[in-house]
Amino acid sequence: MEYITIGNVKIKKTAALAPMAGVADTAYRTVMKSFGASYVVGEMVSIKGLAYSDRKSAELLTVSDAERPAAVQLFGCEPEFVPAAVEIAERYSPDIIDFNAGCPVPKVAGNGSGSALMKDPKLFGEMVSAIVKVSHVPVTVKIRAGWDSEHINACEIAHIAEECGAAAVAVHARTKTQMYTGKADRSIITAVKQTVKIPVIGNGDVDSVESCVSMYRETGCDLVMIARGSYGNPWLFRDIDDFFGGRPPQSPPTLDERLDVMTRQIELLVKCKGEYTGMKEARAQAAFYLKGMPCAAKYRGMCGKLTQINDLYELIKLIKSENTEL
Ligand SMILES: Cc1cc2nc3c(=O)[nH]c(=O)nc-3n(C[C@H](O)[C@H](O)[C@H](O)COP(=O)(O)O)c2cc1C
Repeated sequence: MEYITIGNVKIKKTAALAPMAGVADTAYRTVMKSFGASYVVGEMVSIKGLAYSDRKSAELLTVSDAERPAAVQLFGCEPEFVPAAVEIAERYSPDIIDFNAGCPVPKVAGNGSGSALMKDPKLFGEMVSAIVKVSHVPVTVKIRAGWDSEHINACEIAHIAEECGAAAVAVHARTKTQMYTGKADRSIITAVKQTVKIPVIGNGDVDSVESCVSMYRETGCDLVMIARGSYGNPWLFRDIDDFFGGRPPQSPPTLDERLDVMTRQIELLVKCKGEYTGMKEARAQAAFYLKGMPCAAKYRGMCGKLTQINDLYELIKLIKSENTEL
């Protein structure tokens, strides 16, 4: 098994879990990690929100020991708020601080943060330098290919990140205007890898062992990072870990296994966030796990009504009774 290092943090060269706001919370990350994700990144948190002591922002920074090595991710565009925000972020003992320069959503990019920073290399550099200056852990950056197809500048931005002290750069090989549509252009990751000496993390459209292996092979990236491919599918990390560990492939999960892991994740979610919030957020997670199974549409419709943990147990009982042969 090969490893890479980001600063002083050793990470298995298999597949990492990408940050996903509103999806990859601490329960999700803990389950993915337990199946073999080699590194996880938390949901993005506002630098300004932290500097103003917003409690909700701070809660998103919680990292359980079972997740490590793990990063927290910060976004923002005002260097003056960085010292206070990093000081608060470090109270949660992340192994790495990741800086978001790729988010395309209007609430973030419309305010000059996230992917908008790719249009302002000077401010991008100031943000990275400000974080590196006060951080006691390695600082990484997550970028996109560029703002749009006319302005592909991932190499320039990655170079600035390196010059400003970043310890690695993750590249989601889509432009901001693509959002999550179209195909990730791997040639951009290859170009970034040829531009910088720091580790390059390749991201975009990896959803199988084969696409993970080809991402490594085609781009020369140091680590592969997966977001949507992990929806309800921690077995993807197991299968990738088996492949790189030289072990034979295992059978796909049975229905019982899928339901057990779903239950484990949702119970953990409820433990972390309480039953009211936890079960609201569990609806989408349960639907991920049930996708593709017989009568999925019916069961997923029922997921939308989950309000108590007992509703989940009832749903599972029903699914098992109606799928005895699986
Ligand atoms: C629901 C959702 C939330 C996301 N939230 C974040 C985020 O908080 N920070 C970030 O850097 N990227 C975020 N992303 C982008 C992913 O990390 C990743 O770059 C993108 O989905 C491409 O990878 P994939 O093709 O494996 O999904 C998010 C993506 C999705 C689908």
